[in-house]
Amino acid sequence: MSEIEVDGLRVVFDAPAGPVVAVDGVSERVESGSFVSLVGPSGCGKSTLLAAIAGLQAATEGGVAVGGVPVTGPDRGIGVVFQEDSTLPWRTVTDNVRFALQIAGVSRAEQRTRAREAIELVGLQGFERAYPSTLSGGMRQRVALARTLALRPGVVLMDEPFAALDQQTRIFLGAEVRDIWRRSNQTVLFVTHDISEAILLSQRIWVMSYRPGRIIDVVDVDLPDERDPAVVSTPRFNELHNRVWASLRDESMRGFRQREGAT
Ligand SMILES: Nc1ncnc2c1ncn2[C@@H]1O[C@H](COP(=O)(O)OP(=O)(O)O)[C@@H](O)[C@H]1O
Ligand SMILES: [Mg+2]
Repeated sequence: MSEIEVDGLRVVFDAPAGPVVAVDGVSERVESGSFVSLVGPSGCGKSTLLAAIAGLQAATEGGVAVGGVPVTGPDRGIGVVFQEDSTLPWRTVTDNVRFALQIAGVSRAEQRTRAREAIELVGLQGFERAYPSTLSGGMRQRVALARTLALRPGVVLMDEPFAALDQQTRIFLGAEVRDIWRRSNQTVLFVTHDISEAILLSQRIWVMSYRPGRIIDVVDVDLPDERDPAVVSTPRFNELHNRVWASLRDESMRGFRQREGAT
């Protein structure tokens, strides 16, 4: 069981202009095996919350537990996929996927089996010997995803993994991430600033406010499990979109004004 429990989490950064409360009073739970998206304006604390769950960022107050065990640092059971292209240019696709397994001390035979499985899962068969520089941005993100999946983590955290990709590639990869999740029993927390993407992919959406970063709304996505992209033209999709946008609109404006230095 890989439930994520966030309890009274607060993360404060010391910045030259004074302390920045990036995450404040967040107490939420991602049920084991479920798919939750986190949306919020740029700079509101999404990455900080994700990093705290991943054990990459210390809490100022409160904490996080995964599967009932407090998170105190990076853990092999918690996989992370970032927005930035994190592939290693001097390694082939297979060797990129094997890299994390090597570090984890997995035997060579097992590395090969798991790499093959993960490459198949993300649809990169035929590209095993390719180098990242010869692949598109979307395919490089598949490599990053395969590398995380090969570790067989119970929890997968994704921080705007498709933000740098074009719209078509995003929709396509999103659908695949959802498929992979449905065939696994992984617990997924997916960060995005794209409301439609959040609705298309997840069972539940957390909406985060700007400074301090709090969860100000939780929206259950009551769309059918079989989620064809055509669902975006249904009335229910629209209602959900309006609901999330209504929660987000004022926050986005507030964030924008603060960043622009206006009042
Ligand atoms: N290491 C850090 N030191 C100081 N401030 C930080 C640090 N990391 C993030 N911040 C600040 O915390 C706030 C939240 O950042 P972040 O979690 O990256 O937001 P998001 O991912 O929602 O865009 C921002 O104001 C950012 O500038
Ligand atoms: Mg971020």
